[in-house]
Amino acid sequence: MKQYLLIVLISLFFWGCGPKEEPEFEPTPYKLILPIGFPEMSIPANNSLTIEGVELGKKLYYDPILDKNQARACATCHLQEKSFSSGQAVLPHVNLGWQHNWLWKGEVQGSLEDIMAFEVQDFFETNLDNLNSHAEYPMLFNKAFGIDKIEYVHIEKALAQFLRTMNSGNSKFDKVQRGEAAFTNEESLGLELFFTEKGDCFHCHATTFFSDNQFHNNALDANPSLGYNEVTGDTLDVGKFKSPTLRNIEYTSPYMHDGRYASLEEVIDFYSEGLQHSPTVDPLMKQLSNGGIQLTNEEKTALLAFLKTLSDQEFITNPDFNVK
Ligand code: HEC
Ligand code: HEC
Repeated sequence: MKQYLLIVLISLFFWGCGPKEEPEFEPTPYKLILPIGFPEMSIPANNSLTIEGVELGKKLYYDPILDKNQARACATCHLQEKSFSSGQAVLPHVNLGWQHNWLWKGEVQGSLEDIMAFEVQDFFETNLDNLNSHAEYPMLFNKAFGIDKIEYVHIEKALAQFLRTMNSGNSKFDKVQRGEAAFTNEESLGLELFFTEKGDCFHCHATTFFSDNQFHNNALDANPSLGYNEVTGDTLDVGKFKSPTLRNIEYTSPYMHDGRYASLEEVIDFYSEGLQHSPTVDPLMKQLSNGGIQLTNEEKTALLAFLKTLSDQEFITNPDFNVK
C-alpha cells in the first residue's frame, strides 16, 4: 500500500514538472509612456494595449483594405506631417485617448472604440471577407486577440490601441513647463493674451489638451444653421462646434469646421475684429459687442508666436506612427 502511494506521489511530482501546454494567445503588454504632466488615460479593461494590437492597428491605419472599395486608407486623409489632419478641415489625431466627443458636430460620443466603430462600419463599410481571406491578417489578428475569425470589433480595438499611442507632449510649450526651455518675450506676451481675460482663449481651448472637448458657438457666422443642433435637435445648439485642440495647430491648416481660414493669421484677425453676432454665441465670447478682442499688430504677432510653441516636431516625425 505504502509503495503504491509512493508511486502515485512520484508520478504526480513528475506530472507537475512535465511540459505544460503552451497557451497560444499571449500578447505582450505595451507600456504606454505618457508625456509628463498629462493625466492618466482611462483604457477599457477589455482592450488593454499590447505590442501586437498596436502594431496591427498601425498596419490597418495605413492599409486601404479597410475601405469597401479599397481606395483609401485612414492615412490618405490623416497625414503625419500635418499632425494626422489633411488640407480639408480634417480633425487631427493627437491625444485622442482622453476625448469622448467626436467629430466637429459630435455625431459620435463615447470611447475611441465607439468612434472606430463609426469609421469602420459606417464610413469605410469594411468588407470582412477581404481581411479573413488575406494571407497575413488572420494570423496577426490571432496573435493580437486570440481569435480565428476577424469581426468588426477586433478591427476597431486594434485601431483604438494604435490611436492611444499617438500622444503629443513635447512641444516648446511642454519643454518650458518642464524647465527645459524658455519663452521669448514675444511668446510670453502671446501666452499672457491666451491665458488672461484679454484674449480669453483658455476657457474653451482648455487644459493640457488645449480643448475642453465641448461644443461652442465662437461667433463665426451671423446666421448659422448647422452644428451640434443636428445631433441634439435643439435650436440652442445651432452654430456650435467642438473646440478643437490647438496642439500642433501650425500644421493643421485650413482652420474651422469648414476650413474657411487658410492661415493662423486669418484666425487671429477673426478673433480680433471679425466676430459675428447670432443668438447662440457663447457667453465666453465676451468681446462680441466690440467685434472681437481688438489686438494691436504687435499682440497679433505675439499670439501667433505663442500658438506656434504648441508645435511638436517629434510627434510629426516619430517613426512609431508611420510605416515608412
Ligand atoms: C476621406 C478622408 C478620410 C478618411 C479616409 C478617414 N478620415 Fe477620419 N476624418 C476625416 C474628416 C474630414 C474628419 C472630420 C469630420 C467631421 O468631424 O465631420 C475625420 C475625423 C476623424 C476622427 C475624429 C477626430 C475627432 O477629434 O473627433 C477620427 C478619430 C478619425 N477621423 C479616424 C479615422 C480612421 C481611424 C480612419 C480609417 C479607418 C479614418 N479616419 C479615415 C477624413 C477622413
Ligand atoms: C467660446 C469658446 C472659444 C473661445 C473663447 C475661443 N475659441 Fe477658438 N475655437 C472654438 C471653437 C468651437 C472652434 C471651432 C469652430 C468651428 O469650426 O466652427 C475654434 C477654433 C479655433 C481655431 C481653429 C482650430 C482648427 O483646428 O481649425 C483656432 C486656431 C482657435 N480657435 C484659436 C483661438 C484663440 C487664439 C482664441 C483666443 C483669442 C480662441 N480660439 C478663443 C472655441 C473657442
